Amino acid sequence: MSHGSGKIRLGVLGSGSGSNMQAILDAIRNGTLDAEIVLVLSDNPDAFILQRAKDAGIPAEVIDCQGYKTRFPDEAQKAVANQLKAAGVDIVCLAGFMRLVKQPLLDVFPEKILNIHPSLLPAYPGLMAWKQAVDDGARESGCTVHYVDAGMDTGPIILQAKVPVMPDDTADTLHARIQEQEHTLYPEAIKLVGNQI
Ligand code: GRF
Repeated sequence: MSHGSGKIRLGVLGSGSGSNMQAILDAIRNGTLDAEIVLVLSDNPDAFILQRAKDAGIPAEVIDCQGYKTRFPDEAQKAVANQLKAAGVDIVCLAGFMRLVKQPLLDVFPEKILNIHPSLLPAYPGLMAWKQAVDDGARESGCTVHYVDAGMDTGPIILQAKVPVMPDDTADTLHARIQEQEHTLYPEAIKLVGNQI
């Protein structure tokens, strides 16, 4: 590592609760993961992930998506790339980030952007993967950490954890159990990737 502290420097992008960001932070604090979160960015000014970051003393900012509800405009991606670079970020972690990352940002962090998805990819890409699994009558689902490419939930897989689907599971109960697994899987995957850079 080129940084003085030797720690992996993480930038986290999220749109919601930020429980995965919290799990990464907890893994850092308990010594499981030798890293530091140096910047948190959200496209949603009301996202709890921003509050969690502030509470932890981590710089946190809102991404200006120019009024677009779902698009991640090129200009915004370039601005995000600049902010992440300026913060000295090594690895970018998407954690419940609801916009598709494309070339302007991918080009700046080749094979350095990770995402966590609540299914065993390639099964159930896209939105509400836990509900897709329940609706489909799946007997097993889980979560995946993968590298981000220009597709939706298509990049090379780093780690997966399986979660059984119980007969009485609702979308919500399955999602809650998948999230428990996410919270150990994401720090493990970051450690694996960090050991390679
Ligand atoms: C997680 O279920 C993750 O797999 C999906 O979005 C959710 C984010 O949750 N991509 P949180 O904001 O980390 O609590």
